[in-house]
Amino acid sequence: MSTTITSEQAALPTQAEPAHAAANWLTHLQGEVESHPGVNHLLLARLATGPYTRSDYRQFGLQHFALVGFFTTYMEQLLLRAPSSTEKLWLAKILVAEYGEGSDGRDHSTLYGEYLRSVGAAPGEEKSTPLCAEVWAFVGEHLRICREEPFLVGMGALGPGHEWAIPKMFHHIIPGLRRAGLDSSEMLYFDLHTEQDLDHAAWMTEVLQEMVSTDAQREEVIRGARLSLSARYHFWNGVERSIVAKRQPVSTEVVARGLHAIAGKREEVRSPGNLNDLRAAVERFKAGAPWPVPTLSNSPKGRNAARTPSPKQS
Ligand SMILES: [Fe+2]
Repeated sequence: MSTTITSEQAALPTQAEPAHAAANWLTHLQGEVESHPGVNHLLLARLATGPYTRSDYRQFGLQHFALVGFFTTYMEQLLLRAPSSTEKLWLAKILVAEYGEGSDGRDHSTLYGEYLRSVGAAPGEEKSTPLCAEVWAFVGEHLRICREEPFLVGMGALGPGHEWAIPKMFHHIIPGLRRAGLDSSEMLYFDLHTEQDLDHAAWMTEVLQEMVSTDAQREEVIRGARLSLSARYHFWNGVERSIVAKRQPVSTEVVARGLHAIAGKREEVRSPGNLNDLRAAVERFKAGAPWPVPTLSNSPKGRNAARTPSPKQS
């Protein structure tokens, strides 16, 4: 189940691709988002068609939950930097929906908690589970984008990079959840979020049409989308590794060499910390501290990791 990027693929510089031409640039960007490896990750294709169980989806959800809870934090950070009340109003409109309007007052984190219980996670397990480094990198990268990059880079990361991408990604996950036996009340988060994000995507498209008029502005939006989707690609790598580690607690090499009895279990997830640790790091970052874990942009190793296979290669 390896999703290792070959050196040939890694050499394809996704972020160095030219910005789309002015005419129909949003349509071209939509196509790029929909064909990006972060949105079409092999894990998602496997979830759509493979025999994954509630136990696998529990493992999936315990990693994914952290991203669900921090999206509003990114938006709040970006809202503070909106250049005028027009952009603030657009972002506030989406934020209100993300806080739970239209979901009987239950925000996305609450709905996701209900999903976690239905796949067997114990109350509070989402806070104590070690999170893989890619989760930390994803959150840190988006906080950095929303605080340090030009405003339109943030818009690209949260609009095309999230609101446009999520319905397509969830389109793979939802049939897998059905196959694992979840009913519609148990997977409400995924159905509802898909529906809502189709609205949010349309709102984001509208605001980008209004705000963006120059090549430089278009390039910023596109760069933000690409940064976000690169982080997403690596996030799915981490989730897949976490599922595999749970399913196969010893490596195939250990089994092949007959060392099962003496090797013990391999490390399930190499983790910088759990959700409580991550929340504390976010608060420290908001107070001005550096992000404690390498992200796709804050280390030479991370910058190499930011390269994802070209959409044409996926
Ligand atoms: Fe949304």
